[in-house]
Amino acid sequence: MKELLIEPSIGKPLARVDGHAKVSGAARYAADFNQPGQAYAVIIQSTVGLGRIAALDATAANEVPGILAVISHLNAPKLAYKPHHSPLDPDGERLHVVQDDRVHFFGQPVAVVVAETLDNAEHAAALVDIRYEAQHPMLRVDAPEAQPISPNADLAPRGDADAAFSAAPVQIDAAYGIARENHNPMEPHATIAAWLDDRLTLWSKSQFLVAEAAEMAAVFDLPVENVQVINPFIGGAFGTSLRTWPHVTLAALAARYVNRPVKLVLTRRQMFSETGFRPRTTQRVAIGALPGGQLSSIVHEATAETSRYEQYTESTVTVSRYMYSCPAVRTRYRLLPLDVSTPIFMRGPGEASGVYALECAMDEMAAALAMDPIDFRLRNEPESDEGAGLPFSSRSLRACCELGAARFGWARRDPRPQSMRDGRLLIGWGMSAATYPASRAPSGARARLLADGTAEVEVAASDMGPGTYTSMTQVAADALELPVRSVRFVLGRSDFPAAPPHGGSMTMASVGSAVQAACLAVREKILKLAIGKEETYGDIVARLGGEPIEVEASSAPGDERSRFSMHGFGAIFAEVAVDPDLCTIRVRRMSGAYGAGRIINPRLAKSQCIGGMVGGIGMALLERTALDTRDGRVVNASMADYLVPVNLDIGDLEALFVEEEDPYVNPLGAKGVGELAYVGVAPAVANAVFHATGVRVRDLPIRIEDVLGAV
Ligand code: MOS
Repeated sequence: MKELLIEPSIGKPLARVDGHAKVSGAARYAADFNQPGQAYAVIIQSTVGLGRIAALDATAANEVPGILAVISHLNAPKLAYKPHHSPLDPDGERLHVVQDDRVHFFGQPVAVVVAETLDNAEHAAALVDIRYEAQHPMLRVDAPEAQPISPNADLAPRGDADAAFSAAPVQIDAAYGIARENHNPMEPHATIAAWLDDRLTLWSKSQFLVAEAAEMAAVFDLPVENVQVINPFIGGAFGTSLRTWPHVTLAALAARYVNRPVKLVLTRRQMFSETGFRPRTTQRVAIGALPGGQLSSIVHEATAETSRYEQYTESTVTVSRYMYSCPAVRTRYRLLPLDVSTPIFMRGPGEASGVYALECAMDEMAAALAMDPIDFRLRNEPESDEGAGLPFSSRSLRACCELGAARFGWARRDPRPQSMRDGRLLIGWGMSAATYPASRAPSGARARLLADGTAEVEVAASDMGPGTYTSMTQVAADALELPVRSVRFVLGRSDFPAAPPHGGSMTMASVGSAVQAACLAVREKILKLAIGKEETYGDIVARLGGEPIEVEASSAPGDERSRFSMHGFGAIFAEVAVDPDLCTIRVRRMSGAYGAGRIINPRLAKSQCIGGMVGGIGMALLERTALDTRDGRVVNASMADYLVPVNLDIGDLEALFVEEEDPYVNPLGAKGVGELAYVGVAPAVANAVFHATGVRVRDLPIRIEDVLGAV
């Protein structure tokens, strides 16, 4: 076998291998896969928040030119909806669309209109006359009649946190709120469905291709191998495409009903009510400390909204169990079932919300103790995960604080609120710690060596923007000892070897480990076939007749989770400027320092972290989905009314990585940064707003009116 001197690719800031395809328009997203003879579907949504459909009249709609069908509970075939549970689906029973007259939330799909053109379909949809028997939906998390439920047993408390809090010489006890938020990726949800006999092909936006195939098989009672989901490119998702929402079922149902391929694209407005959201969450954090800064108690309670038919839960309070050393900790998590649709994971789900409350309370406590916020945190740095009773596989919070503080210039901070100015502007500096679990799930991968000396690697994974195509190419190239230009990594088909959900920052750890395993295995296989030292892979394949040499392998977690507590950590620093007359709040700069294990591609990882800061600035200052309290209509369901950060909202953002070697998390030693990047941003900004203004705003987003009159 010829010795090739190839420099390792892992760790190099390789540019995106799919960058040219994306900027040149060659990359094809779900809605780009137009099929010959396709028809167009438009969803009709309920205009009441609770009740039933009393009458539905499609007479006028059926006279529109090009109309093919108006499908509602009156004429829809009964769908099998066989029991099916994707690993990410919440407990409960998913919405069954157009199967009965019940309305569970405002904006529920109640009918789908199919026509020759999109214009025909929209026109016809507007003519469908629906009358409802409406009831008053329960929407408010503070409604007196709301009944919280406990979705899972509360984790065992450590010590008596309530008694320790009462006895603590210094106490902070505060309530924090986070508004409901919608993901708002640039690319809308879209599905093109086509049937060939009893085989269904879906070109469909998805972060979890194999689960979408399995769910459609269950809904339509098909063998799972009869369903193929194709989705090579995703224009952002942030969690909203981690489950198969009703529009996918409606597209497939419509295609079968009219016996033609059908294209269904959600409007921006529909995406506010059809495809999940970060739940509105209220939290109480009560922490007690000794005058020297030692924590004596943490109580962390959270209540979040969910639908009546599913219990979406997230790990909001679990961070408080391991983040700091503390003898007494009690956490409690409750859900409030309301007449709303089901929430879903969004940008650092759970941890982003929980760390926001904990880290704001930590900042309040540092102020009460007259301690520097970093010193206070490091004073309580734990030796191990005291909640799980396990050592950390690695924990670089101290190094992150030191690196981030040095780069940010934290030593020059005057701790007194309203003490720092730039001209007439009030300047605030705030910081927060960040953490997110380093998880991993089983994944497969297939590697193939070709006669031309190149390699192909296939996994049913997704790339919603982090750069999976690129980082997997690097992992494969190093395992095969080939240059990256000789490796073609392919994802986005559900019939490739199965991958776990493209979420929870698991893709590099899970898919990357499988890609590495498959490439090492195919390399071992071909090396056994080599007969001469000068032979290349291509020579061997060609000598054996040219048939590619292929290996499918898988990689799964071992027992590391029972031996180690595994998390990424970070320290986030923010500078805000507050105009004392207008009370506008601007984030001028941020530095984030992260300990996330091995960084496969620093350019991509930095890009993710900067994206996380932008998303976190949205959470802190802009994003809020507002419901009409009478009926649950989303009143700001447009990009004009739902505010997200734009370029002018963003200052200088910097992401730094500390050296961290973690031999335990997975074979690559990579913890993932996609979610960690969102965590800690909102509290850093909120703490900076306090430092600038002296006002503690505990409900996100922080708006002009919250600080008006105080500065
Ligand atoms: Mo992420 S919220 O798991 O897409």
